[in-house]
Amino acid sequence: MDFAHITPPYAPSAWLDLDALDANIHQVNQMTSNVNLRIASKSIRSIDVLKYIQAKTPNFIGIMSFCAQESAYLLSNGFDNVLCAYPTFDRAGIIKTLPYCQNGATMIWMVDSFEQWQLLEDIGRQYNQTLQVCLDINMSMPLPRLYFGTKRSALFSISDIKKLLKKTKKFKHSKLTAMMGYEGQIAGLPENLPDKAKLAPAIRALKALSKKQVSKRRQKIAHWLNKNNHPLTLVNGGGSGSMAFTCLQPEITEITVGSAYYYPALFSYMDSMTSFIPSAGFVLPVTRQPEPKVITCHSGGFVASGVMGTDKTPQIIYPDNLSILKDEGYGEVQTPMQATGKLSVGIGDYVWCRHAKAGELCEHFNELITYRKINNQYLIQGSMTTYRGDGQCFH
Ligand SMILES: Cc1ncc(COP(=O)(O)O)c(C=O)c1O
Repeated sequence: MDFAHITPPYAPSAWLDLDALDANIHQVNQMTSNVNLRIASKSIRSIDVLKYIQAKTPNFIGIMSFCAQESAYLLSNGFDNVLCAYPTFDRAGIIKTLPYCQNGATMIWMVDSFEQWQLLEDIGRQYNQTLQVCLDINMSMPLPRLYFGTKRSALFSISDIKKLLKKTKKFKHSKLTAMMGYEGQIAGLPENLPDKAKLAPAIRALKALSKKQVSKRRQKIAHWLNKNNHPLTLVNGGGSGSMAFTCLQPEITEITVGSAYYYPALFSYMDSMTSFIPSAGFVLPVTRQPEPKVITCHSGGFVASGVMGTDKTPQIIYPDNLSILKDEGYGEVQTPMQATGKLSVGIGDYVWCRHAKAGELCEHFNELITYRKINNQYLIQGSMTTYRGDGQCFH
């Protein structure tokens, strides 16, 4: 966007550049056209934006949700194929989804242990329904002195799966229909982390090695399940950072994509994503000027979850010669910034930023103000509400 010439209707506010979003949707569609596409709602957190992407995605199959209450909310908003990606013990949330399934919607729950599956079976028995279950297979690469991947699922091998299937053999109200193998260490780990440039070659080498393991393990397990009386309706994998790799894997029926749409700061440190365009972020008002080359903005402390580091903090996009003060960072209500060279903004002006992790932006704002370039000028198109703006707070 032409940040120098845009005045937001109010600030702090969140912005969504519809032209950039369209370009990112187009690129995702081109990269994933041979498989079905499931949108990761945690990386969007807005019903309006989810529907906007859905309408422009020919291979859209459904939503990957992140908790039970959110799954019910998505179903209540007309989405009819939801895969909840993380195991849940939220009984009330699961029960809320049942009427939608009775009316034909598809709702699939993630498991990697007996306890999670047993709750689904109990609810199914109580309500005389059959709940659908997806096995989450661990795609990490444990090495002698390094665990390359995420510590989530307890299911690594066919023997782990056999043990689980033995325990659940008598279950009548829950059915294994799907499998997920999310290669997070490939899809979500940036190679070019700020302050850690030296690690890039090692991360690249580990990713290459890990891809070989992922291909083998996911394919072998999917094949085994299909051959052993558990026909799979879907095999899900991948994320924004692994589109090219995941879509080439023969066992994959669908890929999940979320972050590529907003293209937040963290993903610009990733080799595979350099052609995407930032489409969302926030704008802060400059309210003070304590020194000739220092301005102070109101608000700004929208740092991301995960291991603390520069990569989890926002990036200033405009003016691009501003930087954060090392001793203050992005503050709870005020954020001072220092100019190198000429200071081009003063009290009453605006500073435009990108956030680090896709969906987390929407937890701080009720709406995303939408902009589009028309006749060479960026104009406000309206707004799209976030989960927060809808009065929803999911964990
Ligand atoms: C299970 C699962 N699948 C897919 C993704 C990919 O999401 P994104 O495209 O936003 O990186 C994630 C992100 O963490 C995930 O947890």
